[in-house]
Amino acid sequence: MKIAVLASEGAPYAKSGGLGDVMEALPAALQRIEGNEVLLILPFYKKIKENPKYPTELVSEITVCLGWRKQYCGIHRLMNREDGVQVLFVDNDYYFGGRSGPIYGDLDDSERFAFFSKACLEVMNEVGFVPDVIQCNDWQTALVPVMLNAWFREAFPHTKCMYTIHNVEYQGWADVHFFDDVLALPREYYNVLEMKHAMNVMKGAIESADLVTTVSESYARELMYPYYAHGLDGILSNAAWKLTGITNGIDTDVFNPATDGALPAHYDADTFVEGKAKVKAALQEEVGLPQQPDTPLMVMVTRLAGHKGLDLLCYSARQLLLEEDCQLLILGTGEKQFEGFFTQLQQEFPDRVAAKITFDLGLASRIYAGGDIYLMPSKSEPCGLSQMNAMRYGTVPVVHATGGLRDTVPGCDENGQGGLGFTFQSYNADDFLDAVKRAIHLYRDNREGFRALQHTDMIQDFSWDKPAQRYMALFDRMLNW
Ligand code: GLC
Repeated sequence: MKIAVLASEGAPYAKSGGLGDVMEALPAALQRIEGNEVLLILPFYKKIKENPKYPTELVSEITVCLGWRKQYCGIHRLMNREDGVQVLFVDNDYYFGGRSGPIYGDLDDSERFAFFSKACLEVMNEVGFVPDVIQCNDWQTALVPVMLNAWFREAFPHTKCMYTIHNVEYQGWADVHFFDDVLALPREYYNVLEMKHAMNVMKGAIESADLVTTVSESYARELMYPYYAHGLDGILSNAAWKLTGITNGIDTDVFNPATDGALPAHYDADTFVEGKAKVKAALQEEVGLPQQPDTPLMVMVTRLAGHKGLDLLCYSARQLLLEEDCQLLILGTGEKQFEGFFTQLQQEFPDRVAAKITFDLGLASRIYAGGDIYLMPSKSEPCGLSQMNAMRYGTVPVVHATGGLRDTVPGCDENGQGGLGFTFQSYNADDFLDAVKRAIHLYRDNREGFRALQHTDMIQDFSWDKPAQRYMALFDRMLNW
């Protein structure tokens, strides 16, 4: 099957979050399936262009029209991808290559990614890649199914399109003038994109795609409710017949405690007791915490954003530190209020709390490996990847039972049995604190039980093989319509 995967970011080339991780592993997993030919198209951001690790060759140069705009589009092929996935970069200095700074956040983001969406279709046409299936992601490529129907049916008469929602919070809103000025789509598409007297490209994709998926089964159900859907519950309920959840995997080669180059010691499911103890001691030293092997080390690697459940931790952290013998280590950057809170907490409890307000992938690995308990109380979570990273490294998760956290971390009892981690159902600080304490007590009072749970976590299959098969089943379904 010929599969085109379109996205605004993909590791290792450019990544701002979980979408980037998925775009690293999913195309590779699809390519491993016999008979598949996978093409990944990404914007040629400045930091990719300038990175000598990613040599490219110029395949062709075309012009992409967007309303009255005529924009240059260079097509660059990555020359050193080894797994068989074809990677093409869309080159345009005005929108991508000439800008430094973060991937998103420019005032003209709507226009930048409208250009990218159109360019993806033009690029496939130019290089003669006629996909059976297009898989596109989040608001940045949401215009692809709309433009495919409006303009590219001659070029791609049988191509089906799957649209995947990684986070419904960001929908790609623009004002109504965007329709004529930037898109200049035929008039009949106005209603497809219009919502509340504005343009909403995610709504357009949900209505236009052949199938809509999201990144866990629970989140697919939650998306029908106003509490989770950020205004799209009605649209998504209407699309329920074509909405499915496929829980993400993680890249188990990248996240592997037996080989991870960032770790001072390596281990697997049989040797984790000694291995993790070594990493924990080194980690405590690295972050300035006392080296106490038997004090439970609670860790978190996260964007410091509200929906990650940090308000629960802020509310209960002092009580937890006063009532339990434990250490807390947080790595991440984000909203100032949380950066300030954890910095302050570290000053109050210098022997108990370490707050690393930075982005550091190596330290992240050491935290997944050196921690005992991984906290992830997200208010909502489409899938979440770090709880799986933590389990793969033998660190027991404590999660709010929502979205992908519910699907990947079934709750265990106080003896650590019957599940993979500690969960709480309703989003409040008391229930969170209770779940954390159950984890700490198992660690303190029944170390054998805690180790059995760590072992169970480590032997789970979080690889992309099964999710990739589920994507294939849905691709087949679309093609057989
Ligand atoms: C988004 C979601 C996260 C998910 C990731 C990859 O970042 O917030 O829950 O794991 O996308 O699908």
